[in-house]
Amino acid sequence: MIELAERHTFRLPTKSRSLVELNSSDDIEQLSFEEPYYLLGEGSNTLFVDDFQGTVICNQLLGVCIEEQDTDYLVTAAAGENWHNFVTDLRARNIDGLENLALIPGSVGAAPVQNIGAYGVEVSTFIERLTAWDIKEKCWVEMSRDSCEFAYRDSVFKQHPGRWLITSVVFRLPKNWQPVTHYSPLTELSGSVSAQKIFDKVIEVRQQKLPDPRVIPNAGSFFKNPVVPKAQLDDLLKKWPAMVYFPVAGNQVKVAAGWLIEHLGLKTETVGEAAVNPNQALVLINCGQAIGGDVTQLALNIMKQVADASGIILEPEVRLVGEQGLIQLVLEK
Ligand code: EPU
Repeated sequence: MIELAERHTFRLPTKSRSLVELNSSDDIEQLSFEEPYYLLGEGSNTLFVDDFQGTVICNQLLGVCIEEQDTDYLVTAAAGENWHNFVTDLRARNIDGLENLALIPGSVGAAPVQNIGAYGVEVSTFIERLTAWDIKEKCWVEMSRDSCEFAYRDSVFKQHPGRWLITSVVFRLPKNWQPVTHYSPLTELSGSVSAQKIFDKVIEVRQQKLPDPRVIPNAGSFFKNPVVPKAQLDDLLKKWPAMVYFPVAGNQVKVAAGWLIEHLGLKTETVGEAAVNPNQALVLINCGQAIGGDVTQLALNIMKQVADASGIILEPEVRLVGEQGLIQLVLEK
């Protein structure tokens, strides 16, 4: 069995039956993809909560290629590139657009899977297309942005886990850059807002609120912000007039789950060595010796109390892998 603690940022002491590192496209074509298998990037959004009785496939393809066109840059990055290093490298070359997404842990190949987003920007806005190995059909495919079916922290890859192995992503970054500063900490930026100022501010805010996984193991937001109908929001606001929410398309709003967790007094909740991050309650942390059961029980306790108080069923944003593959957390009635 292979230790997985160093392979995922929540650092649970779990193992897998085997592990394969992919360093070239040829490696991919040779692989049998015998089930169960799990596709992994840097493990910043996956928790191995139990010993996985299958193969973990780690995508480590590297390389970045920048093509300058009249109005845009077309940047192709291999899936195994580190996301923040990629964003930092583009910033150094004055290629703007991804600065709001600075310091998000993980790899380039994982970015489209969960459609990473922060401070008013989702990565899907900039994805032109991507290349993937279709594991079912055993062939290479080019997928346009539309065929990726992006939504809030969602994509066709998240809907059909294990179907495609993303090998590279093409980003279209317009030279006519428009800053996105409507999200609360960025509204404080004054004067002429540059991409560098946004990049620096995002890093400052993330470092204040979100624990560094190298110091305190975690996987970022553990839950998604729930999207609810406006009618439900009105009821919630009667109870909690200060509740934070964001408008989304249609007659719906996205409720700040971190606010709910904090205001229900759940910041001090713990199970074993799993706890709620004190600076940002949407993040769960491993205090050092947490085991998978600690984390799943803590998550279920939070889900239960939020459901009882608000009627909202929180959904994990992270992916939980058990003995045979992905597992869901289900609240008992
Ligand atoms: N809030 C609280 N208490 C908390 C946490 C949040 O009151 O403990 C309030 C904040 O004060 C703020 C609101 O809730 O008014 C939203 O909080 P925040 O701006 O920190 O962002 P979030 O909605 O909790 C989302 C993303 C993060 C991303 C931030 C910033 C999801 C699931 N999470 O969190 O992404 O960094 O916005 O844009 O959408 C991740 O996906 O792993 C992640 C960290």
